[in-house]
Amino acid sequence: MDNLDQLVDDARAAFATAGDAAALEQAKARFLGKSGLVTERLKALGRLAPDEKRERGAAVNRARAAIEAALEARREALRAAALADQLAAERLDVTLPGRGGVPGGLHPVSRTLERIERLFHAIGFTVADGPEIETDWHNFTALNLPPNHPARSMQDTFFLEGRNDVLLRTHTSPVQIRSMLAHAERHRGADVMPDLRIIVPGRVYRVDSDATHSPMFHQVEGLWVGERVSFADLKGVVADFLRKFFETEALQVRFRPSFFPFTEPSAEIDVAFMGGAPEGRWLEVAGCGMVHPNVLKSGGIDPERYTGFAFGFGLDRLAMLRYGVNDLRLFFEGDLRFLAQFR
Ligand code: FA5
Ligand code: MG
Repeated sequence: MDNLDQLVDDARAAFATAGDAAALEQAKARFLGKSGLVTERLKALGRLAPDEKRERGAAVNRARAAIEAALEARREALRAAALADQLAAERLDVTLPGRGGVPGGLHPVSRTLERIERLFHAIGFTVADGPEIETDWHNFTALNLPPNHPARSMQDTFFLEGRNDVLLRTHTSPVQIRSMLAHAERHRGADVMPDLRIIVPGRVYRVDSDATHSPMFHQVEGLWVGERVSFADLKGVVADFLRKFFETEALQVRFRPSFFPFTEPSAEIDVAFMGGAPEGRWLEVAGCGMVHPNVLKSGGIDPERYTGFAFGFGLDRLAMLRYGVNDLRLFFEGDLRFLAQFR
């Protein structure tokens, strides 16, 4: 009679040396497989006398149960070890700083735009917009620039191919017309039309290109129409805005008499910085004036009763001055070495 305790010890030893699941399955086959050492002994029971069979059968079954328990224990140990290995290999320290996450940032022109919107919002202006592909009527005719008016050549225009009535807007001023028409319509029949106070930031296009002119650039239109709006209000609003925008006492602002068909009187707004570089150089940042009566009429507003002022800032010029950039084209080349400085 062989020693079943020895068999169990052998199985335990074989399982213990199996280093992975595949080796363990092979060791299992040696003991519990179809022709394994335990199975052999179970088969041999058939040749025994009934008394012996009962006793021996119980002993073999105990041995088999012990071997199966050892097998299961080893399986569990191997699973735990594999999991521990995997956890170690995939270990992640969530307290480490992130890798390669270069923070993005707003484009300097967008930052400037947000700043301007905030400043005007604070004094009761809302933001309006209009299409970049505009009709000749909104861009020119309604702004007191009838067809063939010589002042149309002040703004070299991109027309849509094969069309002379649709163009890329050359300024944000057509939104004056769109906003006045909508405002007049909204308050038609009312005793008093409330003031219309908007700014209009947006892209505009001209056949123009050098260090301070780009074929696509941004303007911010401003418009205030009401019962007693004067040139003094225009000067106050603009000077106050520029002071807040540039945050410097060195700022100098001048209103230089000029001409726009859609305003009368008209002025250009120039700025310079005392002691700043380049010293004493004036840069034109906006056109402005009192809204021409013909323009109020185009907008459906009675020029006998209401007056208004309007201005149109070059947004990119404001960004150039604020950040000390000397070539406008840098804003539109998409060079990250340049743009990253504004993050
Ligand atoms: C106008 O476009 C008028 N619509 C402004 C206006 C609005 C006047 C309301 C009166 C009432 P102007 O062409 O000067 O005006 O352009 C306005 C500003 O846009 C300029 O002062 C300048 O700062 C900027 N600007 C003009 N052309 C360019 C360009 N090619 N690139 C960058 N900025 C430009
Ligand atoms: Mg100008």
